[in-house]
Amino acid sequence: MGKLKKGIILAGGSGSRLYPLTTFLTKQLQPVYDKPMIYYPLSTLIENGISDICLISKADQLPLFDSILGDGGKFGVQIEYRDQPRPEGIAQAFLIAESFIGDESVALILGDNIFHSSAVFGGAFRDFAEGACIFAYHVHDPQRYGVVAFDHHGKAVSLEEKPAKPRSSYAVPGLYLYDREVVRRTRELRPSPRGELEITDLNLAYLQRGALKVSRLPRGFAWLDAGTSSSLHEASSFVQTLEKRQGIKIGCPEEAAYRAGFIDRKRLCELILAMPTCEYKDYLVKFEAEIDMGTVIP
Ligand code: G1P
Repeated sequence: MGKLKKGIILAGGSGSRLYPLTTFLTKQLQPVYDKPMIYYPLSTLIENGISDICLISKADQLPLFDSILGDGGKFGVQIEYRDQPRPEGIAQAFLIAESFIGDESVALILGDNIFHSSAVFGGAFRDFAEGACIFAYHVHDPQRYGVVAFDHHGKAVSLEEKPAKPRSSYAVPGLYLYDREVVRRTRELRPSPRGELEITDLNLAYLQRGALKVSRLPRGFAWLDAGTSSSLHEASSFVQTLEKRQGIKIGCPEEAAYRAGFIDRKRLCELILAMPTCEYKDYLVKFEAEIDMGTVIP
């Protein structure tokens, strides 16, 4: 695994687009088919070798995340929690997590973004050295997202946040890699007209310095966001279809931790034993047995 060890999960926001579901449960803990939404971005970070994690959410939600994930020890990682008192933009995460980031590079993933499969990111995480790296994914509704456009050599030339008239069909997913300059560059940003420190403005700052790498995700890759009731439902259906067909799980942090080498087999077995009888446990029992068949390479 590479030098990138730190990652932030931003699980903030009011979740108003999921009302009334979010009146009793915060967005990132809603079920996406068979597990809480937060399992998916957590697994993506773990699969890519991130062992030092900072989860940011509203103060009253933090105990809920803590009760599910704890200090991360069970997954062989460290998780610490920080409060985002007001939702003042995605880039605000870097100011909140300043002491966590210290002098190192950091990944940021949004708590409602679901990726399959993470193997695609391997190189980007492993080889990340400086500047920033974002991804581009072809979608039918780019106006809902940050949009990146390219020149005819495939070089990124513009970035716009939710443009009414998108210049391309490439949306920027909620997974970003930054070098240690990120806090300083965030401080230089001014809030947008909606009063937020926009992640797109931060990426633009890197682009203007010639320090932004944009990696296009292949068409067979799946990126889903689960921020509205329809996208939440679609994400659940997608996960169910794939899991049933392939007999694999998407967003399983125990499996990810074993594959990343963060926990050993003994620890994996302890985690399985502690689970109640359920499909999730059955899956991990099967996974553990497959280790002996040589089809699981940690
Ligand atoms: C945010 C970002 C946007 C990005 C999207 C990915 O939008 O502002 O650039 O494409 O996440 O999910 P939001 O989900 O806050 O509307």
